[in-house]
Amino acid sequence: MSLCHEERLYKFLHNNEWKESDTGEVIQIFSPDDKKVVGQVPAMSQLEVDQAIQDTANVQEDWAQQEVNDRAELLHRWADELEKMTDEIGEMIHLEVGKTLSSAKGEVKRTAELVRYTAEEGLRVAGGFMQGGSFPGGKNATKAIVDKVPHGVVLAISPFNYPVNLAAAKIAPALITGNTVIFKPATQGAISGLLMIKALVKAGLPQSVLNTVTGRGSVIGDYVVQHEKIDMISFTGGTDTGQHIAQKASMIPVVLELGGKDPAIVLEDADLKKAAKEIVSGALSYSGQRCTAIKRVIVMDSVADELASLIKEEVDSLTVGKASESANITPMINEKSAQFVVNLIEDAKSKGASVISEGVRDGNLLGATVLDNVTEDMDVAWEEQFGPVIPIMRINSEFEAIRLEKQNKYGLQASIFTKDIENAFAIAEKLHVGTVQINGKTSRGPDHFPFLGVKQSGLGVQGIGRSIDSMLRDKVTVLNFS
Ligand code: NAP
Ligand code: G3H
Repeated sequence: MSLCHEERLYKFLHNNEWKESDTGEVIQIFSPDDKKVVGQVPAMSQLEVDQAIQDTANVQEDWAQQEVNDRAELLHRWADELEKMTDEIGEMIHLEVGKTLSSAKGEVKRTAELVRYTAEEGLRVAGGFMQGGSFPGGKNATKAIVDKVPHGVVLAISPFNYPVNLAAAKIAPALITGNTVIFKPATQGAISGLLMIKALVKAGLPQSVLNTVTGRGSVIGDYVVQHEKIDMISFTGGTDTGQHIAQKASMIPVVLELGGKDPAIVLEDADLKKAAKEIVSGALSYSGQRCTAIKRVIVMDSVADELASLIKEEVDSLTVGKASESANITPMINEKSAQFVVNLIEDAKSKGASVISEGVRDGNLLGATVLDNVTEDMDVAWEEQFGPVIPIMRINSEFEAIRLEKQNKYGLQASIFTKDIENAFAIAEKLHVGTVQINGKTSRGPDHFPFLGVKQSGLGVQGIGRSIDSMLRDKVTVLNFS
């Protein structure tokens, strides 16, 4: 595939056949980089979605009966095919969601590694054995075999910003554990997701073990989520969507990885140069469109001037332009998202924030803005910007940093920059987040680490081993010897 845009229709996968919707309805996908059409995906009807789910449910028991080694082999072959398709899929990620080509290809390679590790880790799943005699009044003649069994049909819903990696991070653990999968990609990112599934079909996906569902989440989402044959949902996306899904899905397990407002807490004894570098790369890579982006800096007032000027220096060295030019700051996913960030900046300015570096806007391309003296009455202190703006809040004690973190509705990750590791641990213990990074930017990887959000940042845990756990439930068989 060359890097040209085309009007091509990318079909959905139904029982290993690529199909168009009977309705003839399609959704056009425009590149955020230059607004040209990248391709089209079918807007499936409820009837087609229902058929996809029913067929996937029908083969689940057979799939679960297969040897786990065979399922692991499939995942290894999938990883191989993904690697072979790195250029094709990477180029599509680049066009479809506006990542630079190297970052897009990097996403595909990271995904192949994640799939391989998942295949290996899936081989180590083990249940347990318990004796009744260890409970008061119980007898050793009563023995429980605790097996680990799949939920059934897993619904995997992914966001636009990692259209391949965050989809595979759900699909691979679901498949290795004997679940079948309905994959609903983000509409912006759907073509990349479908190409990733093309690699899975090439690897030998058995018929109906995974079917894809394309169409707007706002149109078909509730129908899929509430379908009686869906047994578990693994979702990554915005907090509002996640909360909506959790309310609609009743009596089935749900894993939610949602938004964040990760703070970088910088103490007086921090290596400020290193902190500034980590903050800028953590806040602005992919123009801040990462759940784990650093979304506010909380710094001791005595070192705030120096840190702010180091941050400004770093930010001013970044290039702003198109993803096709490999710029550092590239167009946001759409104009609405850019406008949301601009509104946050304007609100902060009107309430007295000082602008130490101002990004210029051209449609959905927004240069990076650094705001100092951000105070608690400003929306940017609390809202997830998901874009290229660094708000700096000044504090006079570590207690204030802890309070500001705790007060926020999100709780994904936090960074602490200090040379006093003992103190870093003491602060880390008090923060209400899933992960604390000491002297490093917030980020998800390595992908086998547990990854979770607390408060409104999520429910349940991902990361390869934990994702596998989330795809299984206990099944207890009790032997009653006389
Ligand atoms: P989003 O708008 O919430 O969409 C996420 C997914 O949900 C898409 O596939 C979307 O489909 C689908 N969806 C929308 N409405 C639905 C419904 N009623 N039922 C079922 N599915 C529905 O999020 P996004 O804009 O793609 O991603 C940005 C957000 O995700 C940010 O808040 C970011 O922090 C968060 N995120 C979190 C993590 C994490 O691991 N914590 C990782 C990445 C992103 P359509 O595209 O068709 O609407
Ligand atoms: O956008 C959310 C992703 O989970 C972030 O992953 O920290 O590897 O960029 P990352």
